[in-house]
Amino acid sequence: MALRKIVTLPDPVLRKKARPINKFDKDLQTLIDDMVDTMREAPGVGLAAPQVGISERLIVVEYGEDTEDENGEIIEGPKRLFAMINPEIVKTSTETELGVEGCLSIPGLVGEVERFSTIQVKGLNRRGQPMKVKAEGWLARIFQHEIDHINGVVFPDRATKVWKPEPEEEEEIV
Ligand code: NI
Repeated sequence: MALRKIVTLPDPVLRKKARPINKFDKDLQTLIDDMVDTMREAPGVGLAAPQVGISERLIVVEYGEDTEDENGEIIEGPKRLFAMINPEIVKTSTETELGVEGCLSIPGLVGEVERFSTIQVKGLNRRGQPMKVKAEGWLARIFQHEIDHINGVVFPDRATKVWKPEPEEEEEIV
């Protein structure tokens, strides 16, 4: 396992529509493991293959919903890790929500983006078997952000406003 270099704008790989994956070989397994390591190290909650310079339809997502106990202490929720190949949004809610996003490939910028509140994503797991994920809230947002990446779309394209965050302004970075 190894860390990969995260590419940033204006690298053209971030603007390309990535190609589908049809070989589930050792190189792909290594790429997935490296992307998970790279995402955790960053740290981020999602990463798409074009962000490590590879124009292929692969995303990794790791996210857990935090909750608050009765004393207002933050309890970190259990994290779920997804590696998804050729992901496709097959269903969306009519309801949307605004949220603030950042991106590992666009350091120093955040934006307010409208996303579907709930989605269903279909794709393949690392062995090439079909998988389906129903996601809502932040998890749904992360999937939409990562799937945008493999289509050459980055969050400022969709943002209603973008700004440079204050140092104390903490956002989840995808
Ligand atoms: Ni991103």
